[in-house]
Amino acid sequence: MSALLQLQDIEVDFDGFKALNGLTFAINKGEVRFLIGPNGAGKTTAVDVITSLTKPTAGTVSFEGEVITGKSEFDIVKMGIGRTFQNPSVFDDLTVVENIDLAASFRMGLRKMMRKRRGISPEVAEALELISMTDIAERPAGELSHGQRQWLEIGMLLAQDPKLLLLDEPVAGMSKPERQSTGELLHEIAKTRTVMVVEHDMEFLRQFASVVTVMHEGSVLCEGDVATVQADPTVQEVYLGRSRVAAEDETTVGA
Ligand SMILES: Nc1ncnc2c1ncn2[C@@H]1O[C@H](COP(=O)(O)OP(=O)(O)OP(=O)(O)O)[C@@H](O)[C@H]1O
Ligand SMILES: [Mg+2]
Repeated sequence: MSALLQLQDIEVDFDGFKALNGLTFAINKGEVRFLIGPNGAGKTTAVDVITSLTKPTAGTVSFEGEVITGKSEFDIVKMGIGRTFQNPSVFDDLTVVENIDLAASFRMGLRKMMRKRRGISPEVAEALELISMTDIAERPAGELSHGQRQWLEIGMLLAQDPKLLLLDEPVAGMSKPERQSTGELLHEIAKTRTVMVVEHDMEFLRQFASVVTVMHEGSVLCEGDVATVQADPTVQEVYLGRSRVAAEDETTVGA
C-alpha cells in the first residue's frame, strides 16, 4: 500500500542554514501521527513545506502518489491538505459559524461562493457538531477561551473537507481537560481522515499517539510507537531529557 503522504529527502536552506536536512517520512491513511522534536528541530518548517508555504531546495513531497512539490498553496488546499498555525488565525469580530462558513467558502472557490446558499450548509453544520460548538455558533470568536479558539480553527479546517489535517501544536496553552477533549476529537476526526499533530506535551503523546516521528536538526531521528520512541537512548538525550528539564521548570513556576 502506498502512503497518503510521503516526504522524500527534503532540504530547506535558510541562507546557508539547513532547517531541513534529508527529511524523509511517510504517513498512511487513517493515522494520528505525532511529529515531535526539540525547539528548532524543523517541525513547523516541515508543515510549511507540505503546504507549499516554503519551497524546499531539494526533495519531493507526494500526496496520494502525486508529486505536489511546486504546486501553489491554494492547489494544495484543493487537493485536500489543510493546516493550522501555531497561533490561531480566527476572525474575532465574526461569529463562530461565520468563521467556519468563511473557511468553507475558501475551498469552494469564488463562483460557487457567489451563488451561495442561505443558512448553514451541511459541511459547516457537521464541522460545528464535531467541535461541539453548535450551541455557541452565534457567539463572536473574540469572546471564546483559548481552547475554544483552537477548536474553532480545527472546525474551520474541517469545513474545507481535508483528507489530511496538519495541526501545529493544537493543545499549546490548554488546560488538562481541554487537552483530553482535543485528543478525543483528533481520534474522532481520524475515523474518516488522516491527522498529523506537531506536539511537545509528552503526556498528551503517551495518551493519544500511535506512531511517533521524532525530528532533530532537520531530519528524522527515530520513528515508531510511543514505547519504542521513549526507549530510544538518542531520543532521551536530545528530546526527552530536555523536555523533562523543561517540565520541572514549569512545575517550579507553578504551571
Ligand atoms: N524563515 C526563516 N528564516 C531563517 N531561519 C528560519 C526560518 N524559519 C525557521 N527558521 C529556523 O529553522 C529552524 C527550524 O525552525 P522550525 O520553526 O521549523 O522549528 P520547530 O521544530 O517548529 O520549533 P518549535 O518547537 O520552536 O516550534 C530553526 O532554527 C529556526 O530558527
Ligand atoms: Mg514550530
